[in-house]
Amino acid sequence: MKKYILGIESSCDDTSAAVLENYKILANIIAGQEVHKKYGGVVPELASRAHQQNIIPVVDLALKTAGISKHKLHAIAFTRGPGLLGSLLVGTSFAKAFALGLDIPLIEVDHLKAHILAHFIQNETETRKVPEFPFLCLTISGGHTQIAKISGNSKMELIGNTLDDAAGEAFDKAAKILGLPYPGGPVIDKLAQQGNPDKYQFPKPRIEGLNFSFSGLKTSFLYFIRDELKKDPQFIDNNKNDLCASIQKTIVEILMDKITAASELTGIREIALAGGVSANSLVRSELVSFGERLGWNVYIPEFQFTTDNAAMIAIAGYFKYLDGEFASQDLAPYARSRNE
Ligand code: KG4
Ligand code: ZN
Repeated sequence: MKKYILGIESSCDDTSAAVLENYKILANIIAGQEVHKKYGGVVPELASRAHQQNIIPVVDLALKTAGISKHKLHAIAFTRGPGLLGSLLVGTSFAKAFALGLDIPLIEVDHLKAHILAHFIQNETETRKVPEFPFLCLTISGGHTQIAKISGNSKMELIGNTLDDAAGEAFDKAAKILGLPYPGGPVIDKLAQQGNPDKYQFPKPRIEGLNFSFSGLKTSFLYFIRDELKKDPQFIDNNKNDLCASIQKTIVEILMDKITAASELTGIREIALAGGVSANSLVRSELVSFGERLGWNVYIPEFQFTTDNAAMIAIAGYFKYLDGEFASQDLAPYARSRNE
């Protein structure tokens, strides 16, 4: 039986709507927000306003692209949190009203769980191999850096978390120190391809267990650049690619050390990657080569599902639809993560 789920994502600065036919993606529309670029980061109030402007056109386009009428939808799934409250309110209010108007179920989705469940989305052309339970997922984004053990589509246990900055923040803050535009992660990735990753060494944190920390790295990077600039005002310009390659290598080593430890500790060799930073070319290639060496089955999301998107909200919603887990009209979004 074919079920059509509309997914709505508005937790940060991307307004997105997607339509899924069971596991298969029919449309995944994402409207980014250029307005934040000149501020070097997301401005919450501007994000809420842009969501308000974008939400209806984006949903409309998703339905048109999918080629289905709104009356064929079986449920509306939306991001309840975590994220920016003003942004979440736009998606939540829209989803409630649309579900009420169409008289179909409303489904609340946790943004971080959705990043993980994105691995189960199938596209039109090929059947993708999906992770087997239990698997480990390294979720690395602008707001989160976590390792979770996933034993079922609703059974997720957090086994590692960042104590301060997220991996994406480490990329973005390093980029800012180098005077690169926001978001800095993709820029560092690109420049690093022409750089020498072994030119500079930065200290890695010594954190027990499976937790992460990136704030010390950011501080030592900042002090290093400040000291070098005193000696040579052109230091950044003359060494930009090498600096990008070296900081990227350090961040990725920190991530790989912990996911390796998590695999050893749990004995699980099904390893998945999720979140915006999983678009990083070094993270992707390192995970593959670690997998070959250590006998892991590695699952890397398609590029379109790495950064924030509504297809992942729709697939998480589909699982809940199958379990009959519906939301009530009186719920409110949450800004902070619920599984920390
Ligand atoms: O998952 P996401 O789209 O939003 C959050 O939920 O945070 O992740 C955005 C983060 C940003 O910090 C961005 O710099 C980072 O993902 N990012 C990358 C790359 N592409 C995006 N970081 C490193 N290399 C990339 N290629
Ligand atoms: Zn995200």
